[in-house]
Amino acid sequence: MDGNGRWAKRRGLPRSAGHSAGARTFKTIARYANKIGIKYMTVYAFSTENWSRPKDEVNNILELFKQYLRDASNFKDENIKVKFIGDFNEPHLDDEILTLIADAEKNSENATGMHLNIALNYGGRQEITDAVKIVAEKVAKKEICANDITEEVIADNLYTSGQPYPDLIIRPSGEYRLSNFLIWQSAYAEFWFSDVLWPDFKPKHLDKAIEDYSMRNRRFGGI
Ligand code: FPP
Repeated sequence: MDGNGRWAKRRGLPRSAGHSAGARTFKTIARYANKIGIKYMTVYAFSTENWSRPKDEVNNILELFKQYLRDASNFKDENIKVKFIGDFNEPHLDDEILTLIADAEKNSENATGMHLNIALNYGGRQEITDAVKIVAEKVAKKEICANDITEEVIADNLYTSGQPYPDLIIRPSGEYRLSNFLIWQSAYAEFWFSDVLWPDFKPKHLDKAIEDYSMRNRRFGGI
């Protein structure tokens, strides 16, 4: 969800206004994606690298997460199943936010609509490192042999365990990089880039991304 800062700057507004607008876009797009039948959607909300931003900005973004989580009505009527993915052994993530996250996941656990992953303190390399640690412990306890470690074993220990790999990755705001997002899962994903800044991203942009995606010829390394 990139480009919040530039969106605000262009309007002479503080960066916090850009993040608030980004949060509104997040809700609109998540609702729309669910409505049109997307089964899994992951949004990159805060990376393991974002802590290096000024303290005020970090606090502002954390407050937006809390506001979203406190609003019990969020996505309730839409039947969206929410899951947070990331490293939650992080001192900045206080008990309040961890409890709100646990409650949001619990409250939506029986939802049968779209699976919505919110990546918070997320880093793809960190995710793979965490998976390797879990698998290494299983080897140390002799629960599995090193030779039995397959790609499936690693995938089963990622934060996204049990979910399909993404078909389409959308990056707004004119940047052409993955920035440590779902690096394992995206090995064969299709990419769609747009200059539109995240707060300006509309359902029509998602429609266009899907339309373009539907024209792609996915070969998965075959011919
Ligand atoms: C990147 O844009 C955006 C972020 C690091 C924060 C994203 C957070 C939200 C959209 C808010 C709330 C989300 C939820 C799930 C309620 P940037 O600040 O790097 O933009 P710039 O590149 O233009 O400076």
